[in-house]
Amino acid sequence: MPVNALPSYAEQLVRGRRAVRSFRADPVPAETLRAVFALAGAAPSNSNTQPWHVEVASGDTRDRLSEALLQAHSRQAVSTDFPYRDDLYTGRYAHRRQVAGSAMYQALGIARDDDRARAAYDAESLKFYGAPHVAMLFLPGNAEARMAADLGIYAQTLLLALTAYGIASCPQGLLSFYADTVRDVLGVRDRKLLFGISFGYADTDAPINNIDIPRAELGETTRFHH
Ligand SMILES: Cc1cc2nc3c(=O)[nH]c(=O)nc-3n(C[C@H](O)[C@H](O)[C@H](O)COP(=O)(O)O)c2cc1C
Repeated sequence: MPVNALPSYAEQLVRGRRAVRSFRADPVPAETLRAVFALAGAAPSNSNTQPWHVEVASGDTRDRLSEALLQAHSRQAVSTDFPYRDDLYTGRYAHRRQVAGSAMYQALGIARDDDRARAAYDAESLKFYGAPHVAMLFLPGNAEARMAADLGIYAQTLLLALTAYGIASCPQGLLSFYADTVRDVLGVRDRKLLFGISFGYADTDAPINNIDIPRAELGETTRFHH
């Protein structure tokens, strides 16, 4: 590979990843899973501490996890390790969120004010959008913001590794709303759940997988000082 091909590969890889929300049922071969997760482990972290712990659920475990999440959701048994508040996102952040939400719900044919259909779609997401695998991303029990940053970097490395291997994914913060349930099913103790990533092969025909979520102009997010 000529060295100057890297920018073009990076463009393809980074821009080729997108959140996919409809999957085929066929699983990713075990050796591919090992290659992808080994590659994700090359992510950088504070002092190389690598504070991530990853639980990958497939097969029966994946099904039991989804069942338990749906039950927790219907009981509203919410337990978050990293508190979430809707009002974190105001101004431009609220606007970007609304643009992304509109694109999604339009592709799904769900009207803006159709709370019932939106709730039903939330439940669908607890079935991992049909993905045959889900990775749950944990941190040590004493983790705070700096370790969460390491895990975020790990997560993006994983998403790009999956993309490179032709595997689609959706990071899902919603999965971390039921952290106690996830720990119970997976037998995890003393670790905090930041979020989960559903993954598998994309159902490329699904309209929800064919939306483009825009990004802010460079100048809106980045200032260059000279
Ligand atoms: C930490 C994190 C949590 C997310 N949580 C959810 C979620 O709960 N449900 C969902 O449908 N998408 C979720 N997403 C996907 C984002 O909505 C998506 O990445 C964003 O709209 C940009 O679209 P793109 O990934 O297709 O470029 C999450 C993404 C990240 C990084």
